[in-house]
Amino acid sequence: MSAKVIDGKRIAQEIREEIRLETARLKERGIVPGLAVVLVGGDPASAVYVGSKEKTCKEMGFHSEVHRLPEETTEEQLLALVSDLNRNEAVHGILVQLPLPKHIHEKAVIDAIAVEKDVDGFSPQSTGNLVIGDESLLPCTPAGIIELIRRAGVDPAGKHAVVIGRSNIVGKPVAMLLLRENATVTICHSRTDNMEAIASQADILVVAIGKPKAIGRRYVKPGAVVIDVGVNRLETGKLAGDVDYDDCLDVAGAITPVPGGVGPMTIAMLMQNTLKAAKRKAG
Ligand code: GUN
Repeated sequence: MSAKVIDGKRIAQEIREEIRLETARLKERGIVPGLAVVLVGGDPASAVYVGSKEKTCKEMGFHSEVHRLPEETTEEQLLALVSDLNRNEAVHGILVQLPLPKHIHEKAVIDAIAVEKDVDGFSPQSTGNLVIGDESLLPCTPAGIIELIRRAGVDPAGKHAVVIGRSNIVGKPVAMLLLRENATVTICHSRTDNMEAIASQADILVVAIGKPKAIGRRYVKPGAVVIDVGVNRLETGKLAGDVDYDDCLDVAGAITPVPGGVGPMTIAMLMQNTLKAAKRKAG
């Protein structure tokens, strides 16, 4: 039996359409969600990501501003901009594109973003809120993963979820979100003994390790939902996930492809966070 393919591209499109409609309704009340994106330096990949965030904001009907700053911008100048954006009434969400140039402390900049505008959900306060279950904006990729699982018709409650990877931006927060959804959660990582035996017990398997095709069918319980967060460029130029998709396709119950799985959800969740922040401010 072949797994159901979870079409992240289609689901992200549905979510974007819902956001666009809600934004049009909010406009009638004089509320326009606003996102400010800050890009420092000329990293080509970051420039592409920022361009796509800007384009999506416009499609949603949001106010969008992009601050493109030169590589030699000082930390002080960047902190001053973040402080202005914190006070700017037209801006409900602030995203500082990472990585920043080496002479700037990323932590200091992320910490400076007002928690109610932290649409990346990366700040210590947002992370703390996530852990204790308080209302906060959720980090985009982990929130997108939960949405994909839900829209695949799977309720994580009571299920064994195994997360492979323990990064601050995906592994740890997605484990916390799955716990919030009442799953029984195990986190595996590079030092885990006998990972195959653990992963193959999972009803929901989330993989975020950044190693192309590292997870094959021996890690997958028959019928499991497999969420592949990896995006790796192969020598052939093709993209591959962390999961060996072809190998797992007839074992898993449902699986996300790469590209077209988790990737498109991240930007949709960023838009959703911006909308949420605007609605919260409006009361
Ligand atoms: N760089 C790559 N992905 C991201 C992201 O999701 N947020 C930010 N701020 N920077 C990134």
